[in-house]
Amino acid sequence: MSDGQVKRGQWSSRLLFILAATGSAVGLGNIWKFPYIAGENGGGAFVLIYLICICLVGIPVMMAEIMLGRRGQKNPIESMKALALESNRSSAWQFIGWLGVAAGFIVLCFYSVVAGWALAYVPRVASGMFEGATGEFARESLSALWASSESLLAWHTIFMVMTCVVVARGVNAGLEKAVQILMPGLFTLMLILLGYSYSTGYFSAGIDFLFKPNFEALFNGGHFGEAVLTALGHAFFTLSLSMGSMMVYGSYLPKDVSITKATFVIAGVDTLIALMAGMVIFPIVFANGLSPEAGPGLLFKTIPLAFGHMNYGSFFGFLFFVLVVFAAWSSSISMIEPVVSWLTENTKLTRVYATTMIGVIVWILGLACLLSFNLWSGEEYQFFGKTFFDLADYVTSKIMLPLGGLLIAYFAVWSMSKSAIRSELGLSQGAFEFWRVVTKYITIYLVVLVFVNSLCGGMSFNVWMISSALIVAGLLLTRAFYPRRA
Ligand code: PHE
Repeated sequence: MSDGQVKRGQWSSRLLFILAATGSAVGLGNIWKFPYIAGENGGGAFVLIYLICICLVGIPVMMAEIMLGRRGQKNPIESMKALALESNRSSAWQFIGWLGVAAGFIVLCFYSVVAGWALAYVPRVASGMFEGATGEFARESLSALWASSESLLAWHTIFMVMTCVVVARGVNAGLEKAVQILMPGLFTLMLILLGYSYSTGYFSAGIDFLFKPNFEALFNGGHFGEAVLTALGHAFFTLSLSMGSMMVYGSYLPKDVSITKATFVIAGVDTLIALMAGMVIFPIVFANGLSPEAGPGLLFKTIPLAFGHMNYGSFFGFLFFVLVVFAAWSSSISMIEPVVSWLTENTKLTRVYATTMIGVIVWILGLACLLSFNLWSGEEYQFFGKTFFDLADYVTSKIMLPLGGLLIAYFAVWSMSKSAIRSELGLSQGAFEFWRVVTKYITIYLVVLVFVNSLCGGMSFNVWMISSALIVAGLLLTRAFYPRRA
């Protein structure tokens, strides 16, 4: 794709759009984050809630976000401004674009640090240091990496440079081609790992943990509301929603491509990879006496053990972490693409200059995230009881992304004309009405419900009542003061 400044680029085909958007969606969120949050929240019941969030919130919002991008034909901020004007709405709607750009910025700060861990594991696993290793050894070796701020800094820096080099050159055919090899490669290695997990003798324990819903544990733990918010936030995160990424990719999408079909393919592949990662990791957890609640280190404490115990493990392990880095890379690129495209289209900055500037800012903020694991892990460096790393994750996944998703859904179904949306989505009358009703009522209701619930600090009858009352009031106000377009 060419630089947006001169002539707006376009994906050369439907397949390439799907590949690039899948490259954005599939990343650390699937392989690193999903298994550890599923582990922390007791497995099955959480996974079920997550899948419901993907279907009832993630997919409808993804369709809306890609649609807004394609119709706006600009970067997320300008697209939202143009669409608001086209629909005779306030230009304040460009806030959606700003919110997304800001969220992408903050996410990349910690994303790059975690991608740095994956980079560090490439030579580690290849060296054979995990051959025959125990769970204890895997744990200690991760702690040693976390304790070394210099190593973390080096890997974080390398990853940021990798990201900026691609973005500076324009999201191009190189990335499209890389994703074409990466996805099948990642899938194949996941299958090999699944074979290993099966051989541990703990496969069914892992599957039970992941797929047998145990709501009692969730309710009794008293953190049901928090778990639902985590699942909802992760549905946005894993599908790369609310950060302008899908909007900007949508703006490069040719008119004849079906947004609906593309969305289903992307969301399907994304969910499959996440579930496979869980199916690989949990049997290894149980076979090695590790805890499913190991937190952000879970992936790095388990997968090296698998490679340490299989034939040609060092080679496959090397390949696996290279692919994880690639997956993270194609995601991180799409996080800064929105802000870079805004800068190149609205200022005199060149793409290279804009990327360098953004890259340096993210790199500096990333330092605070990586220090959260060593020098700044103490209480004196915490805000609201959270390290900078945890705070960046919390503020984006649990506040900014759901809020952005809510606004995207609201704008699409309440502000734009029906005919405009329908022609963009390319759906039959029935399917279109179905999408509209789900987005207008169910998606919006669920996001508000989860928000109110987290504000009230627990799920109860009152919370249901308050959020339902808020929704009804919102709908009535909208109808009264916000006339619908045909
Ligand atoms: N979806 C990516 C992942 O799961 C993360 C991401 C979020 C990428 C937002 C781009 C924009 O790893």
